[in-house]
Amino acid sequence: MQKIAFKHLKAGDEIGLVPTMGALHNGHISLIEKSAKNDDITIVSIFVNPVQFGHGEDYLKYPRPVKKDLEICKKNRVDYAFMPSVKDMFPQEHKAFVEVKALQDIMCGAFRPVHFRGVVTAVSKLFNISFADRAYFGMKDFQQLKIIEKMAKDLSFRTKIVPCPIVREKNGLALSSRNSYLSDEEKAVSLNISKSLKEAAKEFKSKSLSAVKNSAISKLKKIPNSKIDYAEIVSASDLSPAYRNTKKVVFAVAVWVGKTRLIDNIQMTK
Ligand code: PAF
Repeated sequence: MQKIAFKHLKAGDEIGLVPTMGALHNGHISLIEKSAKNDDITIVSIFVNPVQFGHGEDYLKYPRPVKKDLEICKKNRVDYAFMPSVKDMFPQEHKAFVEVKALQDIMCGAFRPVHFRGVVTAVSKLFNISFADRAYFGMKDFQQLKIIEKMAKDLSFRTKIVPCPIVREKNGLALSSRNSYLSDEEKAVSLNISKSLKEAAKEFKSKSLSAVKNSAISKLKKIPNSKIDYAEIVSASDLSPAYRNTKKVVFAVAVWVGKTRLIDNIQMTK
């Protein structure tokens, strides 16, 4: 892949990278479409990255519908589907890891201690392999997006990070490959996550941060079989805790519904 990408780089092609773990849905397709529009070459990487899963997490059960993913790539004019093996990316002797201090330890990182180190290491490798001019990331994983932006800036990667809006089901549920774990009943109640966030964004216009947060938390708690990992209102620029005067604010949550961990967020403005 690196040799092929280098040929395109030398030929003056602009390269777009859409890093994924497969189980492609309309959210991924929106990233692919954006790259197809902006770039001469679109590379989609499909790699269920073991180093971003902690012990007891869903690495083994993570969906891997390879044939369907490749059909989606073909249909959406992807030039290359890059599907490295675990041995290609992380052979036994692999020792180098990339970390983004502090940002990796809060929010999702507080509950998934090795997660972002694994994400950032895999993504750095993908940037180096693809020589991407642009890489596309969904805003559902808002913390991931911010961490990757920081990594790319601090380590002087040539790749420009392109944030892409969350794609939702009609009822509001944010698209995620993990939604396939949900039973019909769980799916039905999960829409209360996006609903609570939407209501929070409305309340934010007139209420205090803590009032907005508490009202959302009490709604999230009512979801049957749910457990809140966190519900935090942070600065959209650096994920620090938001204050009354913070300009751009994001309300981000991680909520378990049964055995499935869902994340979602919303930008809020006064
Ligand atoms: O968001 C994802 O699917 C993954 O975390 C990513 C960015 C492809 C890295 O493995």
